[in-house]
Amino acid sequence: MGALFPFLLLHAGLATFVASQRSFGIDYAHDCFLKDGKPFRYISGSIHYSRVPRYYWKDRLLKMKMAGLDAIQTYVPWNFHEPEAGVYIFSGDRDLEYFLELAEEIGLLVILRAGPYICAEWDMGGLPAWLLEKESIVLRSSDPDYLAAVDRWMGVLLPKMKNHLYHNGGPIIMVQVENEYGSYFTCDYDYLRYLHNLFQHHLGDEVVLFTTDGAVKTFLRCGTLQGLYATVDFGPGSNITAAFLNQRHSEPKGPLVNSEFYTGWLDHWGGRHTTVPASLVAKSLSNILAHGASINMYMFIGGTNFGYWNGANMPYAAQPTSYDYDAPLSEAGDLTEKYFAIREVIGMYKELPKGPIPPTTPKFAYGEVALEKVGTVRNLLNDLSPSGPVKSTYPLTFVQLKQYFGFVLYRTKLPRNCTENTTLLPLFDGIHDRAYVSVNGVSQGVLSRSHVLKLNITGKAGAYLDLLVENTGRVNYGRFNNDFKGLVSNITLGEEILTDWEMYPLDIDKAVSQGLHNETGGDISSYEEPSFYTGSFSIPSGIPDLPQDTYVQFPGWTKGQIWINGFNLGRYWPAVGPQATLFVPSNFLVSSSPNNITVLELEGSPCGTQKCLIEFVDRPNINASLHYESDFKKLFSRDFV
Ligand SMILES: *[C@@H]1O[C@H](CO)[C@@H](O)[C@H](O)[C@H]1NC(C)=O
Ligand SMILES: *[C@@H]1O[C@H](CO)[C@@H](O)[C@H](O)[C@H]1NC(C)=O
Ligand SMILES: *[C@@H]1O[C@H](CO)[C@@H](O)[C@H](O)[C@H]1NC(C)=O
Ligand SMILES: *[C@@H]1O[C@H](CO)[C@@H](O)[C@H](O)[C@H]1NC(C)=O
Ligand SMILES: *[C@@H]1O[C@H](CO)[C@@H](O)[C@H](O)[C@H]1NC(C)=O
Ligand SMILES: *[C@@H]1O[C@H](CO)[C@@H](O)[C@H](O)[C@H]1NC(C)=O
Ligand SMILES: *[C@@H]1O[C@H](CO)[C@@H](O)[C@H](O)[C@H]1NC(C)=O
Ligand SMILES: *[C@@H]1O[C@H](CO)[C@@H](O)[C@H](O)[C@H]1NC(C)=O
Repeated sequence: MGALFPFLLLHAGLATFVASQRSFGIDYAHDCFLKDGKPFRYISGSIHYSRVPRYYWKDRLLKMKMAGLDAIQTYVPWNFHEPEAGVYIFSGDRDLEYFLELAEEIGLLVILRAGPYICAEWDMGGLPAWLLEKESIVLRSSDPDYLAAVDRWMGVLLPKMKNHLYHNGGPIIMVQVENEYGSYFTCDYDYLRYLHNLFQHHLGDEVVLFTTDGAVKTFLRCGTLQGLYATVDFGPGSNITAAFLNQRHSEPKGPLVNSEFYTGWLDHWGGRHTTVPASLVAKSLSNILAHGASINMYMFIGGTNFGYWNGANMPYAAQPTSYDYDAPLSEAGDLTEKYFAIREVIGMYKELPKGPIPPTTPKFAYGEVALEKVGTVRNLLNDLSPSGPVKSTYPLTFVQLKQYFGFVLYRTKLPRNCTENTTLLPLFDGIHDRAYVSVNGVSQGVLSRSHVLKLNITGKAGAYLDLLVENTGRVNYGRFNNDFKGLVSNITLGEEILTDWEMYPLDIDKAVSQGLHNETGGDISSYEEPSFYTGSFSIPSGIPDLPQDTYVQFPGWTKGQIWINGFNLGRYWPAVGPQATLFVPSNFLVSSSPNNITVLELEGSPCGTQKCLIEFVDRPNINASLHYESDFKKLFSRDFV
């Protein structure tokens, strides 16, 4: 009812007072929103500030404004802002309030999807991994420890958001509570009620709070709650009448809203790149607008999963670094055919803003950069893990080691001579998610969650057995959201459970920014072990407007991680694709000194046999044709279970 307050005032003859008041609410009588007392429907697009460098926020928002959008929709990833319990970051690329101010300045309203859970193909759906310190925690439920953590976080986030609400002079017209809760297994109305009260407590009862669920009755059943306005999501090609009838089942009156109209779709490593034709998107968009509905296009710009931020789906498949999404603005913010098709449709329903559209940023091919090996993970351990190993009889998980992302080296000694093939078997598919296995520095192969479940190894009693375990991204959707990482079960060698582990948590980002010391000592015999390579390149002089954006590709490399000037750009995996180049925004590069590159190659570099280089090119390739099926099998052919 709070949302109706301004509307009622208007009819009480206080028009002059109301005219100066900013208000946003729902007009149930006329099935629409009401902005400043007038009927309103929005055309919105999704942008995730966490996937675009701050440097480019303004450019992307301007392009969205010039497409004719009234609003943007963004998620708040909890784990991006509270990396450790009680440690909050709201600066730099995480300066949410600055992002909101930019939107306001450009004239875009904001639909805020505040969480706590967001899905978003983002690590663990935005939930912080440290929640798993209570192993039995039931996420997204009335579990008291979960609620206590949510309570503390929302007590930090929501008071910051209050000043940015529309009726308080800011751009935020609506705030989403939870996300697609009806697709989760807990169906806990007490939890939704708790969130409803918590949001109202911090934001007041004038704000429009809403939920979003798949446009299917079964999802809406557990995802909606009296007092939270129920909206739906569906993509082009869906039956629009049927989808909105399902929304009407939950909300008999009020505006029709599609909160996620899919302009494209997500990718997985080892799968085909997904595209949705611009003509199909445009046609469906036009139909939805003709229904008088409000709409948010998911995504309007997808952006990039920098660093380790990508999520994963079950059966386990991780999402790549690019979150291009085949959206109307590309990963790099380029104007596409789909952008202009959508703009044209919007122009049929409202007046488009006047003025120039910011152009696509130029891209530059800096060319080949030679790399040299600096050492293996094994012989750089002092730099990578300055605090040394944690010892334990049985293996500990990443969370138990308080290492939430990246890599941990698990080490034990072979208890006996393994002269013949001896099988190394993690119980219950317990490698989360990949282990690069070596014995005294001799590579034995890769164990991979759901794909390669065991490995034969050889080595002498007393030799070091090393498993460099990579967290390739936490499950972001569904009941396996509580995704523990590392060696999450015991591991057997032959019949025997291996014991007496030393676990080295690796702080690679810090070691890279401090500079890795050359430890190769001329040893180039162990190229197949996970190893670091470095190189540098200078921005050419005499060419105006450099540095510009670029893309980096990895000829002959297999799988790994790359840092540029200490910035963790993301994962590369050209051996499975579909992504073959990584986007490098210009603001990561400098003209004043050489740009420093560090590559961690996990499986096999080209350096022993071919040219040891990476290459900066001016075109993205995220749809490499790699004959996935056969390649994927070949890659895992040693033991495809
Ligand atoms: C779309 O759904 C409506 C309502 O359920 C139904 O009447 C109509 O036949 C459907 N249209 C198509 C093309 O399936
Ligand atoms: C392992 O084999 C070596 C010979 O290669 C032998 O000297 C040693 O005793 C064996 N160790 C065990 C534990 O069997
Ligand atoms: C060990 O396994 C390989 C295949 O992985 C096989 O070629 C070889 O014959 C095996 N050796 C023994 C001694 O079983
Ligand atoms: C492992 O070694 C055993 C015994 O030699 C053999 O039967 C099996 O095929 C090998 N497995 C693989 C994956 O090489
Ligand atoms: C490993 O096995 C030991 C002994 O059976 C058991 O106490 C321990 O809980 C197991 N650890 C894991 C992670 O399963
Ligand atoms: C590291 O040292 C080895 C041996 O001296 C040398 O071949 C290699 O080029 C060096 N690598 C770097 C990155 O300096
Ligand atoms: C790259 O490394 C060199 C040598 O350590 C250093 O002088 C330079 O400032 C670094 N460049 C950047 C952009 O940090
Ligand atoms: C990848 O996309 C580009 C640009 O749209 C297109 O020209 C190319 O044919 C596509 N390649 C594959 C293998 O689908």
